[in-house]
Amino acid sequence: MVNSVVSYRRVGRVGVITVDYPPVNAVGLAVRAGLVAALAQGVEDADAALLLLTANGRTFMAGADIREFGKPHQPPVLPDVIAAFDACPKPTIAAIHGTALGGGLEIAMACHYRVALSSAKLGLPEVKLGLMPGSGGTQRLPRLIGPAKALDMILSGDPVSASQALADGLIDAMDDGDSVLEAGLRLADRARAEGWPARPTSGRTDRITGTDPTLFATHRAALAKRVPHLFSPHRCVDAVEAAVTLPFADGVARERSLFLACMESPQRAGLIHAFFAEREVAKIPGLPTDTPKRDVRTVAVIGAGTMGGGIAMCFTNAGFPVRLLDSGADALDRGVQAIRRKHEASAKRGKLTAAQVDARMALIHPTLSYADLSDADLVIEAAFESLEVKQRIFAELDRVCKAGAILATNTSTLDINAIADATHRPQDVVGMHFFSPANVMKLLENVRGARTADDVVATVMDLSRRIGKVGVLVGVCYGFVGNRILHQRGRESMALIDEGASPEQVDRVLTAFGFPLGHFAMTDLAGIDVGWRIREERRKAGDPESQAVNWLDALAEQGRFGQKTGAGVYRYEPGSRTPLPDPAVAALIAEDRAKRGLTPRAVSDDEIRDRCLYVMVNEAAKILEEGIAARAVDIDAIWLHGYRFPAHRGGLLFWADHVGLPVIAQAIQGYHATLGGHPWELSPLLRRLADEGRGFHSL
Ligand code: COA
Repeated sequence: MVNSVVSYRRVGRVGVITVDYPPVNAVGLAVRAGLVAALAQGVEDADAALLLLTANGRTFMAGADIREFGKPHQPPVLPDVIAAFDACPKPTIAAIHGTALGGGLEIAMACHYRVALSSAKLGLPEVKLGLMPGSGGTQRLPRLIGPAKALDMILSGDPVSASQALADGLIDAMDDGDSVLEAGLRLADRARAEGWPARPTSGRTDRITGTDPTLFATHRAALAKRVPHLFSPHRCVDAVEAAVTLPFADGVARERSLFLACMESPQRAGLIHAFFAEREVAKIPGLPTDTPKRDVRTVAVIGAGTMGGGIAMCFTNAGFPVRLLDSGADALDRGVQAIRRKHEASAKRGKLTAAQVDARMALIHPTLSYADLSDADLVIEAAFESLEVKQRIFAELDRVCKAGAILATNTSTLDINAIADATHRPQDVVGMHFFSPANVMKLLENVRGARTADDVVATVMDLSRRIGKVGVLVGVCYGFVGNRILHQRGRESMALIDEGASPEQVDRVLTAFGFPLGHFAMTDLAGIDVGWRIREERRKAGDPESQAVNWLDALAEQGRFGQKTGAGVYRYEPGSRTPLPDPAVAALIAEDRAKRGLTPRAVSDDEIRDRCLYVMVNEAAKILEEGIAARAVDIDAIWLHGYRFPAHRGGLLFWADHVGLPVIAQAIQGYHATLGGHPWELSPLLRRLADEGRGFHSL
């Protein structure tokens, strides 16, 4: 044993260094110190002809320890560990299983040879955390696979399969066995038999000589177009260029200074917050991790429309058999065909094989009869958004479902407690609010009703992860967390148009902030008819909060529902999703303002940004105060995964903390004085945190 997480032993003439630091063998201080000591021991060991580096548990080293980022690093630092492996006088082999990522792959690349199990994946995901490989990765990868492929890997951050790695030259051998140690020892035997020498990657130049110099200009131009606002991708190109233009040691020095600049960037802090937020939301305050979970094997979905079909796909994609129920044979048939078409479109794009499409379709069991749901472990209702309809369905479920079945509703607006009242088992009723398109969007708001049992909450949170979603637990209120905040942004966007901004200007400001779509382009994507119908219902019901008919409603009345009808707030050329400003809409807005006696003024971009975002922050603070969301991180994750809030800003409330709550509180008070209205009443929580000089994440 070298230290508590790294061991050295000999197997025959092979010195085996093993890292054992669960869960993912992240290269923290203890691992770094252990590796240096174990390597020294292996070099000293006269009976070791070569050295094999491997890891225990589910994976090879999955990167530097992200929790140490932003804090001073104690020696030995990773570049020194890696330099020691590179310079080892004995041949070194890395044997890889699971995921060799980031610093883990950088260590593997500093070994002289590499073998991976065929199930392994190898990648440099640093760019996704606002960073770049900073311990020689940008210098060694081009030396192994050439600069063009290295740029693809480093800029995408996506891992490659072992077979791809073998084809590219990143590894020297692939092993079909399931023991990584045996795979490593097999390659070590071959290396000894064939007399493989020590072969530092730093000394190799065959893949980098003769690099086409236009490669870097092409990448720079593409990045300037695709991600102009991101910091680290541009530095990645500079670093790989250094690999082909500078001697190795100078390239490493250049990489280091670029890496440190990324480390200092607020984008790095934001992206790392987003990484941990995704994982943090799974840990529910007050719900012990050993809370028992109900066994879920069979799922039923009620409603074969767009939402129900998408939800069914989420489960069949994860291997669950799904009963899909609709009340009409035609609707059911249309729903099943729509699912098949979506799978076939994926197959066309090479994402699924024909056999996989068939296997997924075989898991769907269409039915018209509630009796067929009697053995389902989980039923998700995705029927028409009406309390009466849903209460009828839940009363029926109460009658037919087995004891202990979880009864979930996908409602986006209705009161879960009122739905639970239709049953004699409110403890089994929960909300599972999927976001459209359900098979694509990662967010799942799991809504805990007043009487939902703990084991039901634990089960749906666990299931979220199993079907590849980010599940966030929320409480009951109109719109829950995500849509309640969205509603405020939408209302404010409409107010800005009334005052003189154009939809294009609002959208331009939001996309400049980092949203992939502006508010109005998103409305066109979701369909204007959705909000219009909800507003019509509320108006008919005499809801005093419902807004008067506006120009958006007028568009819907003209049949301009958005992208799906080729026109909405914007117009669309046939077959194109690019929003184009439409003079007819500008005229409609002008007419609407005139009718209401409003005089338009020039609205600045800064005002648009501040009003759209601060009103969201204020609403989020109220949601926290009411306990509808437990923590700031939950709201961050909801907006990151349900609405594509720019990840490099960390999340809505992480961004707010960064701006400073006193600044935001003061602005909100100013808007309340000039604009008035409930949404601009400053949240007492926000006021208190601002007064105390604290942020949302200090709660
Ligand atoms: N440093 C510190 N902690 C890490 C980590 C890292 N590099 N990678 C993962 N973890 C932690 C996670 O936060 C999680 O902790 P928790 O259980 O307390 O929530 C735990 O390890 C397991 O990770 P998780 O992502 O839930 O497991 P997984 O099996 O789904 O995925 C990985 C494993 C390695 C693929 C995934 O965690 C990952 O992509 N990690 C980041 C790798 C990376 O970016 N490395 C480069 C760093 S420069």
